[in-house]
Amino acid sequence: MTRFPIDRVRADTPGVESVVHFNNAGSALPPEQVVDTVVAHLRREAAIGGYEASAEAGPRLDAVYDSIARLIGGRSDQIAVIENATRAWDMAVYGYPFQAGDRVITARSEYVSNVVALLQLRERHGIEIVLIDDDEHGQLDLAALEAELGRGAAMVAITHVPTSGGLVNPAAEVGALCAAHDTFYVLDACQSAGQVPLDVDALGCDVLSSTGRKYLRGPRGTGFLWVSDRALERIEPPFLDLHAAEWTGDEAYEIRGDARRFENWETYYAGKLGLGAAIDYALDLGIEASTERLQVLGAELRGRLDELPRVAVHDKGIHRGGIVTFDVAGTEAVVVEAALRDQHMNTSTSTPGHARYDLAARGLGPIVRASVHYYNTTDEIDRFVTAVASL
Ligand SMILES: Cc1ncc(COP(=O)(O)O)c(C=O)c1O
Repeated sequence: MTRFPIDRVRADTPGVESVVHFNNAGSALPPEQVVDTVVAHLRREAAIGGYEASAEAGPRLDAVYDSIARLIGGRSDQIAVIENATRAWDMAVYGYPFQAGDRVITARSEYVSNVVALLQLRERHGIEIVLIDDDEHGQLDLAALEAELGRGAAMVAITHVPTSGGLVNPAAEVGALCAAHDTFYVLDACQSAGQVPLDVDALGCDVLSSTGRKYLRGPRGTGFLWVSDRALERIEPPFLDLHAAEWTGDEAYEIRGDARRFENWETYYAGKLGLGAAIDYALDLGIEASTERLQVLGAELRGRLDELPRVAVHDKGIHRGGIVTFDVAGTEAVVVEAALRDQHMNTSTSTPGHARYDLAARGLGPIVRASVHYYNTTDEIDRFVTAVASL
């Protein structure tokens, strides 16, 4: 913790002057470098025209793919920049050539939108959704996964770090099992990008989706998709346009060869540049150092809240990150959230309706989510815990 350049990162983050921002799993405070990049491009669009500004920024726009590849591994031609993590995941999973009876294995911590999509795909294609349980630590049960893989599966689709808890799932171990059973592996890394180091080779996934605004501290309305070479071969985008395909004859079209086939033509150029700036910032700081710091802060917040008599902490897992979930006996989560916001402390509420396989299955009602980032401090945790204690 001592070597982390906390003064510099806080100086880069003007938002820390006005709020204790513990809603990084919602949308983090961006550094000035990101804001400046977005605003500069918007100004350029205003000054010379939108198409002209994107043409001028061509090399810098291309460099965004290189930045993503430096963040997660893989090659830049395996990457698509898409408006959010959900659409990125959708482009791959809705495009997968499912056959009736295909088994798709998922876990309790799967993200709500992914589960809704799988339920729709079940109606459309007759796939079977197989839910594996958690192990005694609360992470997805690797032995149960292996057993289900042994019964045959078309796909494993899991979430690395769930939206409503501190858990970090053993994503690389899942990848090793998928490789052993030659099963297609889709990893939702929406909350893990920027929070823990990612390397698609080590993870062994075929698809990785993520968002810009959370632990990467990028602009809202940005995200990306990475696909393996075999995923690129196997998956046809569910939608095509003139960017994803070429109209080669009156009756013919050809889908482009790289992962940009999953993008669409019109896009948020300023945001894309901002995403690149956010990733460059994260890489410059060092993901390992950031992970270490935010995990220490997360553990500290969890421990301090756990000591309060009326507070129960609900995070699971062997490995835990910066997301801390809790409730306060006798006070509804939304009331806690509102009371904290009145004191300029940002949290959010996680509802069981958004996590039926997890929170609802554990019999939990709405809980407060306080998600810390590396730019938060022990002093902020002190103030936050004091505020929760005095509710
Ligand atoms: C685990 C997880 N996956 C996916 C998403 C969806 O991300 P987006 O809102 O960028 O589509 C979220 C958002 O909270 C998330 O927490």
